[in-house]
Amino acid sequence: MPDLHDQIRDFWDRDSHTYDDSASHAVSDPLEAAAWRAALRRALPDPGAKVLDIGAGTGALSLLAAELGYEVTALDLSEGMLSKARAKADANGVELTFVVGSAAGPPSGPFDAIMERHVIWTMPDPATALSAWRDIVVPGGRLVLFEGVWGAEAPTQKVKDAAAGVLRRVLGVEDHHHAPYPADVLAQLPLARMTSPIPLIDMVHDAGWRGLRIQRLRDVEWASMRYERWPLGWLEQRPRYALIADA
Ligand SMILES: C[S@@+](CC[C@H](N)C(=O)[O-])C[C@H]1O[C@@H](n2cnc3c(N)ncnc32)[C@H](O)[C@@H]1O
Repeated sequence: MPDLHDQIRDFWDRDSHTYDDSASHAVSDPLEAAAWRAALRRALPDPGAKVLDIGAGTGALSLLAAELGYEVTALDLSEGMLSKARAKADANGVELTFVVGSAAGPPSGPFDAIMERHVIWTMPDPATALSAWRDIVVPGGRLVLFEGVWGAEAPTQKVKDAAAGVLRRVLGVEDHHHAPYPADVLAQLPLARMTSPIPLIDMVHDAGWRGLRIQRLRDVEWASMRYERWPLGWLEQRPRYALIADA
């Protein structure tokens, strides 16, 4: 039986072939890209800053940030995912630094900011990683976590999810989201299927980050809702947010 790290890496290596089929994953829709540029500018320090994108995947945010003038290092444990990011950077003439490695053992930097999108939920020990990231930023360096409330606790969301599932089958609209992790893997991930940002806020604070502030990403939500065929986008919409803190 491979260990958890290898299981997660193998999952994403396999998923890398279809990950960008989802517009929200690839940020291939112009409206979504514009919304994410706005979110990056709001959350990150000024362009020119050195940014480490943890779990950069196929590079959606790394590429947009580099385009905005940031000096970006894209780190991921999956060579499969990073190879897609590399190909897109080459095709668009964008300069990025790539590191194949674990979020728990990042390069020493120092960076002006650490960011991640949709990665912290898949980390077996996010608390230790959050502390390690504080050691590789400049004094006053920034943490930017782009996350969403993916778990459905409210009965209304459960009903909406069920309706969306039926509608997708009836309309023959494919769900581009990857298969979920196996239950034994999910059970080892403390932040998987969060139903509120509060456990993450507590964990970031306990890791020594200060000045925590949250921004709801209404522009990103609006853009991704518009992209999906009505009413699927509305039924499946989740609150998205940026959690920002200082070292
Ligand atoms: C849901 S994808 C998000 C990718 C990208 N951030 C995005 O927004 O499209 C999760 C990514 O995190 C990476 N990942 C998962 N655990 C990791 C870890 N411990 N260290 C580094 N990367 C990790 C996976 O390989 C995958 O590329």
